[in-house]
Amino acid sequence: MPVDPGLIKDVMVKDFHCFNDRGFYCNEKHDPLSAHLLNLNGDKWKKMRSKLTSAFTPLKVKSMFDTVLACTTQLLSGLEEYASGKVVFDADEVMARFTTDVISSCAFGFKSNCELKKYGDEIMRPPMIKIMLLVLAEMNQNLAKRLGVTRTTSNARSFFLNVISRTIAHREKVGATRKDFLQILLDLKNEGQSLTTREITAQALLFFVAGFETSASTLTFCLYELAKHPAIQKRLREEIKNVLNTHTHVCYEAVAEMT
Ligand code: HEM
Repeated sequence: MPVDPGLIKDVMVKDFHCFNDRGFYCNEKHDPLSAHLLNLNGDKWKKMRSKLTSAFTPLKVKSMFDTVLACTTQLLSGLEEYASGKVVFDADEVMARFTTDVISSCAFGFKSNCELKKYGDEIMRPPMIKIMLLVLAEMNQNLAKRLGVTRTTSNARSFFLNVISRTIAHREKVGATRKDFLQILLDLKNEGQSLTTREITAQALLFFVAGFETSASTLTFCLYELAKHPAIQKRLREEIKNVLNTHTHVCYEAVAEMT
């Protein structure tokens, strides 16, 4: 674990070309949806990263704010019900449902449904036997490739490829655009970046799997700490109220002002 700032700078900047591989198992032939930013290595990662850099600007994130906000309505009414009935609830499950909603709206442009949650869980929370197989695949990647070991199941692959192809076809047919990651990828394609439907689906799937579990755990720990420390909770509530008093509605700028 490098802790020296100079050394970290070398790893992240000067000598980055020697450190950019995560070394994760990726099987483009049998599992095209595994060929996303997190798993790609070497030149393939570099090319995809430079194509997608413009997808991660603060302006793009800002453009999705209203989509995220729309998902909070259902969360708030659910929490209100628990609070008024003094019902104990599983924060991790509620936050996972919320972030699945947020990420599916932001990545694919549609509300989460049971199938999406099912395949999301299948990828992020696989059975123990699959975890062991993937650990072995990480250790001997060439053999795993020859044996055709895949990260995703064929049902999940068909589901995501199908959903994304249909959504792309629909948007192209009616000329519709939306403020989501899929649209950013489609715009990149239309601006001349060579991106196939499979590549687009793999990146959109990564946004989904990288975004939902990580954000759900962060929110869950945050709620837990706030519940354990009422004084900090009070301070936070005051700060939110004060900032929102200076705005007409909840907006990106207001959240950015909260320290
Ligand atoms: C609290 C929430 C999150 C945490 C803790 C987290 C953590 C991480 C970590 C540790 C990495 C690997 C970094 C590295 O190897 O240097 C990563 C990469 C990545 N994450 Fe997240 N993440 C979060 C939320 C998200 C969200 C919401 C998205 C997208 C919607 C996302 C998309 C990505 C992508 C695309 C990469 C790969 C970037 C690349 O290869 O260039 N993450 N994340």
